[in-house]
Amino acid sequence: MLILGIESTCDETACALVKDGREILSNIVSSQVDLHAEFGGVVPELACRRHVEALIPVLDEALKAAGVTLDDVDAIAVAHSPGLIGALLIGINAAKALAFSLKKPFIGINHIEAHLYASIMSSSTELQFPALGIVLSGGHTSLMHLTSPHQSTIIAKTVDDAVGEAFDKVAKILGLSYPGGPEIERLALAGDPTRFSFKAGRVKESPLDFSFSGLKTAVLYASRKLPTITYQDQCDLAAGFQQTAFSDVLQKTLQAARLHQCQTLLFGGGVTNNKKLRNLFEKEALGYRLLWPAAGLSLDNAAMIAGLGFHKLQQKKGGDLLNFEAIATS
Ligand code: KG4
Ligand code: ZN
Repeated sequence: MLILGIESTCDETACALVKDGREILSNIVSSQVDLHAEFGGVVPELACRRHVEALIPVLDEALKAAGVTLDDVDAIAVAHSPGLIGALLIGINAAKALAFSLKKPFIGINHIEAHLYASIMSSSTELQFPALGIVLSGGHTSLMHLTSPHQSTIIAKTVDDAVGEAFDKVAKILGLSYPGGPEIERLALAGDPTRFSFKAGRVKESPLDFSFSGLKTAVLYASRKLPTITYQDQCDLAAGFQQTAFSDVLQKTLQAARLHQCQTLLFGGGVTNNKKLRNLFEKEALGYRLLWPAAGLSLDNAAMIAGLGFHKLQQKKGGDLLNFEAIATS
């Protein structure tokens, strides 16, 4: 079954063609990083305008790279939640128009579940459920309990900034470029994580939830106390921030895995590109099976949408109806 995936939840316009939920024939991503860089974060109105311009060229490129035409496509899968509402509508309406004109089914996909499916499609062996999903991206920080690739419940989430958002904001404080995650990771390699003493937020009523806004502000105050910020200061602040954020993710993940009796940890989202994070889990999460997204599948992409679409269509044969709506929140 050949599925066309469409992704437009935030600042990437992407289309992909995937066979039987696994075989990626093409995976084209048009990133808007250049557009949002000067603002240090995503500007929703600009993102929507760029999606409108980019979608058809990206679709054409994906079909061409896969060596297929729209007639070869069996169904269309589109990210319908969560995300920027205007951005979601562009992808969904394109999917509906294609489905209507081609007389083929379309199916709405949860972007967060798709991030986790990226790890499943990156692995060659069968997965044991229940599994614990850890989504660490620019827009989301969630722990999910999965009983199948497309059946999940949220165990915990951030009450303020997403972890990737905190990386981007700390990078801005340190005068680094956007997106901040890779910059922070690079500087942290030469930094002393113990020089500054930072703490991640605690959410009293809900101890597995995350809070990164206070940590980000602590980095701001620590940087303001310095007479000037040298390269070594930048490195030490980056290392301290990164270590604090990742220790918090590790601790809460292990707690949730024990509580929900999950032996498999599935990772998804742009922050999971970070080698320090991967090394920390490989070292500390002993006895758990760790699944990471392959290169090209951790940041926003449409292959993960098409891949999960295959499984969802097995469950919901005719797909979704044309009155199906976008949902901004998770
Ligand atoms: O998954 P993604 O494309 O976006 C959302 O779905 O929100 O992730 C983008 C986020 C950005 O915040 C970026 O700074 C972060 O992932 N990121 C990283 C790294 N690479 C990307 N954060 C930490 N370390 C990295 N190496
Ligand atoms: Zn994402």
